[in-house]
Amino acid sequence: MYRLLFSLVIARIDAEAAHHLTLRALRAIQAVPGAAPLLRRVLAPRDPALAVHALGLDFPSPLGLAAGFDKDAVAYKALGAFGFGHVEIGTVTGRPQPGNPRPRLFRLVRDRAVINRMGFNNAGSEAAADRLRNRRPGTIVGVNIGKTKVVPEAEAAADYVASTERLAPYADYLVVNVSSPNTPGLRNLQAVEHLRPLLSAVREAADRSAPRRVPLLVKIAPDLADDDVDAVADLALDLGLDGIIATNTTIERAGLRGDAALAKETGGLSGAPLKDRSLDVLRRLRARAGDRLVLVSVGGVEDAGDVWERIRAGATLVQGYTGMIYGGPLWARRVHRDLAARLKGSAFPTLAAARHHS
Ligand SMILES: Cc1cc2nc3c(=O)[nH]c(=O)nc-3n(C[C@H](O)[C@H](O)[C@H](O)COP(=O)(O)O)c2cc1C
Repeated sequence: MYRLLFSLVIARIDAEAAHHLTLRALRAIQAVPGAAPLLRRVLAPRDPALAVHALGLDFPSPLGLAAGFDKDAVAYKALGAFGFGHVEIGTVTGRPQPGNPRPRLFRLVRDRAVINRMGFNNAGSEAAADRLRNRRPGTIVGVNIGKTKVVPEAEAAADYVASTERLAPYADYLVVNVSSPNTPGLRNLQAVEHLRPLLSAVREAADRSAPRRVPLLVKIAPDLADDDVDAVADLALDLGLDGIIATNTTIERAGLRGDAALAKETGGLSGAPLKDRSLDVLRRLRARAGDRLVLVSVGGVEDAGDVWERIRAGATLVQGYTGMIYGGPLWARRVHRDLAARLKGSAFPTLAAARHHS
């Protein structure tokens, strides 16, 4: 059904317009009393074998929605009801900003990929905090923060700290995003000499603003050299961070077979072509950090086989975004159903056991 709808309707409308339509539909569902809980009963994973305990939280399942879809925390309830085990909102910046001029989102259908140069369009951390303030338990919500474009790199830490102070009290976990290719200079913050003071400042800000210890993770780019991946893992361990999210989108264009003109668009590439590098980075992190960090694997996850592969390679949690664009609204449910079947056919009683023996 969704495939037909995609090729007849969705693929013909502008990608960002389709995105806004989807968000509007999700908000409408949320607004109907009782609709989200009802959907949740039908669509959300309930198989205890899929449950994951990590970051001090009980995730109903390993697959969450990656950052960038619900930037302003307007639809996370409905997204949780559609079966995501967690939703990462953001990237949220210290100040509101419009992002880059449109068009800035491109579907590369034949490659099952997307290129985006959104540039952190969002309403800012104050607005996000207002939305999350009266949040009821239900969906696990991670908060992904980044730098406001007009803030100079030298003052980046203060911008992240302002967002942390506003949002840490309402976040189930916090993510420092230093890996988007669409904010000039942002990825320079991944260098350890910049990253160490930044992460320390965010950790301290979180500790003084929230009554409990909020788990802190850093999200890295797939384009880091292998040595730099190791260096971030070492730093995360040294600072007592909780985990690493790997990876963001890539500026590489290798392996694209579809539309050559679209492939030339500037921005971050996501989806199937990112799969191999994302898995490589995960394996590297696992080899370096063992079980001492929670590894969240993201990039090119399309089906239960991909989730299984990531878990067997050491991921505790997995996220997806582009897979949902091509898979449709029931994507998370399908992945979880297939994952449960795969687990039943394996030698492991639970996903946690499958990871542990990886
Ligand atoms: C349209 C779009 C917007 C995104 N925005 C963000 C963002 O604001 N912050 C972030 O950390 N990642 C963002 N991402 C990256 C995703 O969270 C994810 O890391 C990446 O797309 C790889 O996963 P995928 O192949 O499953 O899409 C965005 C991705 C897409 C496609």
